[in-house]
Amino acid sequence: MAISSTREIPVTGAIPTHVAIVMDGNGRWAHARLLPRTAGHAKGVQSVRRAVETCGAAGVKYLTLFAFSSENWRRPADEVSLLMRLFVQALEREVARLQEQGVRLHVVGDLSAFEPKLQELIAQAQEKTAHNDKLHLTIAANYGGRWDILQATRALLLARPELAADPSGLDETSLAPYLSMAWAPEPDLFIRTGGEQRISNFLIWQMAYTELYFTECYWPDFGEEELHKSFEWYRTRERRFGRTSAQVHAVAKS
Ligand code: FPP
Repeated sequence: MAISSTREIPVTGAIPTHVAIVMDGNGRWAHARLLPRTAGHAKGVQSVRRAVETCGAAGVKYLTLFAFSSENWRRPADEVSLLMRLFVQALEREVARLQEQGVRLHVVGDLSAFEPKLQELIAQAQEKTAHNDKLHLTIAANYGGRWDILQATRALLLARPELAADPSGLDETSLAPYLSMAWAPEPDLFIRTGGEQRISNFLIWQMAYTELYFTECYWPDFGEEELHKSFEWYRTRERRFGRTSAQVHAVAKS
């Protein structure tokens, strides 16, 4: 099971092992060009492709993208259906490319809300790429951090009903295996494009000690150079995980 940053100190390197991204700014990118918001999302798919290639080449092992939050259903119906169409198209067209690049695809979130065709395509794409392990690409779709914690709690209580009567036995390690990304280490680097500085109910449990990087760049403009800029920034961070700076330096010298 992945190491918990609040229980143990993870070993970290110059390149983040796990990068999580909120791909924001598609609408404003389109608006600035007098295009419909949906054109921004379509252009955003190209940035997804670039991010996968760049992360794979840089040695990132896990890339997690927030494609559709539990709250995105509040958007206009035509935008929601375009996002669904883009998702279907990407699953139909991109799986061969993922295979060539050794990318394993995972989709996390409450998938029961999606139409059966989309659910079927997701299952097929996950199965086809299941043997790859160069890069784990996770798409968070109809995902919310609070949903994740709640679904994990429900699953835990179903598996261990005695905990409901005596919750003193409930701790991090009992809940963590039921979270939807239990198989992945916690994100090292969180990136949000588009200038906003918030986490927006993304991996709220998993990002307890993640480094947070915010850039004004809109997602459709976010390419290789921008991603490397975020990695350079990441390298300047001192990751203390609750320790003092002196302790971190002492460990680095030993
Ligand atoms: C946020 O920009 C973006 C989204 C809600 C959707 C992201 C989707 C994609 C990049 C394309 C589909 C992805 C896959 C994996 C196939 P926004 O619309 O909130 O932009 P704004 O803040 O400028 O309005």
